[in-house]
Amino acid sequence: MIEQLIELEKTALKELDAVKDPSELEKLRISYLGKKGILTSLMRKVGTLPQEQRADAGRVSNLVKSNLSRRIKEVIEGIESLKPDQSAFIDVTLPGRKPLRGHLHPITLVIQEVCQIFIKMGFKIVKGPNVELDYYNFEALNLPKDHPARDMQDTFYVSDNVVLRTHTSPIQVRTMESQRPPVSIIAPGKVYRRDSDVSHTPMFHQVEGLLVDKQVSLGDLKGTLTSFVHQMFGSDTRIRFRPSFFPFTEPSAEVDIQCVICGGKGCRTCSQSGWLEILGSGMVDPEVYRFVDYDPELYSGFAFGMGIERIAMLKYGIDDIQLFFKNDMRFLKQF
Ligand code: DAH
Repeated sequence: MIEQLIELEKTALKELDAVKDPSELEKLRISYLGKKGILTSLMRKVGTLPQEQRADAGRVSNLVKSNLSRRIKEVIEGIESLKPDQSAFIDVTLPGRKPLRGHLHPITLVIQEVCQIFIKMGFKIVKGPNVELDYYNFEALNLPKDHPARDMQDTFYVSDNVVLRTHTSPIQVRTMESQRPPVSIIAPGKVYRRDSDVSHTPMFHQVEGLLVDKQVSLGDLKGTLTSFVHQMFGSDTRIRFRPSFFPFTEPSAEVDIQCVICGGKGCRTCSQSGWLEILGSGMVDPEVYRFVDYDPELYSGFAFGMGIERIAMLKYGIDDIQLFFKNDMRFLKQF
């Protein structure tokens, strides 16, 4: 029995040395150590041996069993260590994945385009605070406390005399306060009003313009804005100046362009009028000069303000302003 066990161990170890993959190893393990395995069967016979041989045969068979088990474990570990580590495995032959390329938001693109046109005409870009004093947003623009254009419903109040600016016009006042004429600036930025539907969002963008010098006339205003419209919408776009009212300009005019959808024939977008309003403008009211200490006898100037979302909607034929702020890639990708 003992010789048999030693012989069995030798053969088994030799066979284990030759094993190359886990399934082969498993078969070998079962053939020796499984329920009907060679060693298992031999060990079962130990009990039938004569009394004096039983103890030795038992010891040797247990030793053989533990030797084989240990060796099997070592072989498994050996095979395992040869396997490539999946997490670190990189197939360098795979084609690369292109990173998604971002681009500027359509509103940013239109702000840049508008500003670029005025920069070429000699205007300088300036900025102002979004959280603004009542004084700059209203008071110094000739909108006293009881003025109807101050309608509480439109303005976000931070406190009694602090608001989220409702337009970019306060930048006119801040600019004139800090420098003497000649002044020619454009001021892009966010503005805030309590309003939300297909053509209004509580935050939107405006670009403000201001030019003050000696002998600036309404003709300069018309020439400047006509040139802007032709560069922005095409040189054959018709334009008209329609008398209007703003507390900070006198006279005031709103600028309309021929409807970009129907070409002036009349459609839903232009309410059958053939015209679309794109900005407000006028000659700076002498009342405003009083607040910044400019001499209205010596200086005159014009100002204008336009809504960027509106310009973008007309330029690209977009019918819902909310699309600009939903971050839907299918929309944004088109610009
Ligand atoms: N601030 C006006 C608005 O938000 C637009 C405007 C009108 C600006 C006339 C001007 C201007 O500078 O002269 O509706």
